[in-house]
Amino acid sequence: MANRREENLEPGSAQPTRDSRFSAASSQLRELVALASDLAHAAGLVHAEGLRRTLTLAAKSSPTDLVSEVDRQSERMIVERLSVLRPDDAVMAEEGASRDGTSGVRWVIDPLDGTTNYVYGYPAFAVSIAVDIDGKFQIGVVYDSSAGHCYRAIKGFGAFCDGSPIHAREQSELAQSLVATGFSYEAGQRERQGSTLALILGRVRDIRRSGSAALDLCHVAAGQLDALWELDNAPWDYAAGSVIAIEAGAEVVFPLATHGRGPAVVAAPHSLMPSFLSLLRETGAHA
Ligand code: IPD
Ligand code: CA
Ligand code: CA
Repeated sequence: MANRREENLEPGSAQPTRDSRFSAASSQLRELVALASDLAHAAGLVHAEGLRRTLTLAAKSSPTDLVSEVDRQSERMIVERLSVLRPDDAVMAEEGASRDGTSGVRWVIDPLDGTTNYVYGYPAFAVSIAVDIDGKFQIGVVYDSSAGHCYRAIKGFGAFCDGSPIHAREQSELAQSLVATGFSYEAGQRERQGSTLALILGRVRDIRRSGSAALDLCHVAAGQLDALWELDNAPWDYAAGSVIAIEAGAEVVFPLATHGRGPAVVAAPHSLMPSFLSLLRETGAHA
């Protein structure tokens, strides 16, 4: 992992030590990040257990958009625990759990990001949990259950992987940038995304498509990628990873997409963002 130092805060620990940057955060934020970490690790155990049996699969928005019983079990476990521990909080989760709250705290959850990878045993899948307080995302936890790494950030208090600080790369040259993207589950949209990709490919170092938007954002945060753009993501795909990427020093913006549902997600170092956005505009990726 790039630029690691000790944070002295173990994943899932509710007891940060004096040297942790998180220890300067309010007790509310520390409790929420510890709970998000515990829930993400518990969902990781559900993922691990599911890998040992034959899965029941179903298609969602298109035949390529898969959901497994593990997505649902992970979500049910997280949401049931939140109902007991944080009954006044709101919840929005990918597989349908949704409730209003009265506390001003909202949990935005992708119980398994990278379901296609998970189904194939391709090692890039994760749990993504973001917490918004009074309408602002303040906490992001992404547990890479395929590799056992936990990315965490509190707004204003840094981003960490397995307890060590992470930082986005210093990069200002598009031609030397390693850039990730992802594709929609809708065939026509994929064709448009493919045309854009063909134009971008010749202008950057190379392209990666991991199959987990949450992990792509963490990899930008950790300097393992330079930048990311993607269309058609939902808040549960990008909310936690965005907090982590921003706290690691990257910029994350949501420009209007030329095609597709809602805005695009674009993450890059501040020094790269203007030329990256120009390239995306020029190639038709966003308006
Ligand atoms: C998907 C992954 C993928 C991205 C898709 C997402 P899921 O989430 O993040 O990388 O390209 O847009 O929907 O369906 O595996 O939770
Ligand atoms: Ca997802
Ligand atoms: Ca998912």
